Amino acid sequence: MNEFQVELPDGSMMPRLGMGTWYLGEGRRPQTEEIEALRTGLDAGMRLIDTAEMYGEGEAERLVGKTIAGYRREDLYLVSKVYPHNAGRSHLRESLEASLDRLGTDYLDMYLLHWRGSVPLAETVACMQDAVDAGLIRRWGVSNFNLADMRELLSLDGGANCCANQVLYHLGSRGIEVDLMPWLAERHIPIMAYCPLAQAGGLQRGLIDSAAVRNVAQSHGFTPMQVLLAFVLHQPNAIAIPRSGSREHTLENAAVLQNPFTDEEFEELSRAFPAPNHPVPLDME
Ligand SMILES: NC(=O)c1ccc[n+]([C@@H]2O[C@H](COP(=O)([O-])OP(=O)(O)OC[C@H]3O[C@@H](n4cnc5c(N)ncnc54)[C@H](OP(=O)(O)O)[C@@H]3O)[C@@H](O)[C@H]2O)c1
Repeated sequence: MNEFQVELPDGSMMPRLGMGTWYLGEGRRPQTEEIEALRTGLDAGMRLIDTAEMYGEGEAERLVGKTIAGYRREDLYLVSKVYPHNAGRSHLRESLEASLDRLGTDYLDMYLLHWRGSVPLAETVACMQDAVDAGLIRRWGVSNFNLADMRELLSLDGGANCCANQVLYHLGSRGIEVDLMPWLAERHIPIMAYCPLAQAGGLQRGLIDSAAVRNVAQSHGFTPMQVLLAFVLHQPNAIAIPRSGSREHTLENAAVLQNPFTDEEFEELSRAFPAPNHPVPLDME
């Protein structure tokens, strides 16, 4: 592993900093601005883009498709997610092909089950494996799986091919450090941290304007949002996918890789916002 990539269970490397796309492509900003933000990120080295069929019911994938037109496919790392109700024999292939079509590509680097639904896990695993064999996805993973879900998944035929678990993780929500994160780390399965900026601080009152975040921001020359991102990236088994529709914010996020935290800075933040000392339910906002 180097600082910017993490090795997956299949031996391939995955970038540790990418871009989320929830709420992009839905008209909150002019599309040209959002495309410019994503291209700025790609050009700054954030070549991983996380999206989902759910986001804007395909609009985020369409926006990503427009964004990446003209880029070399092998320079990109595209992740999308299937709705749980589409993650079985009857719909997964159709959903996947629709995502590929909107993205304007013929394969995904990783395909995730967005959250666990009523389709039996073994059926989803078999469909994912079929999609790998068909060359439509390079590998697959899951999202919003707690430790019990992960144990069950890895006990299934082919379940150990799961390459990532995308879960909520930020300075103010550290429950996964108690059990899920170490369990995954032992198996070299990274977490993809969603909401790494706690949705610009909105998920937890008092986080970005706390004394600890402000102090570290000032001494390190970061904005509070960069502090939150650097905190997540200090965890060696974490990939972070902050979302921004702003060119300036995207550049700030990309810059975090050039200036990582020391262990002391990590500890200072950690003391102010400690992980719980007992297992807690998986946070989903
Ligand atoms: N698997 C799941 O169930 C799941 C759930 C939630 C999210 N996700 C994925 O994770 C991604 C990230 O999570 P998220 O979008 O919920 O939240 P987030 O990345 O924690 O926060 C996004 C917010 O932060 C702002 N922001 C970004 N960079 C900033 C900066 N440098 N300075 C100031 N503000 C900044 C953005 O506004 P601007 O646009 O103005 O920059 C936006 O309001 C999603 O987009 C999605 O791809 C997955």
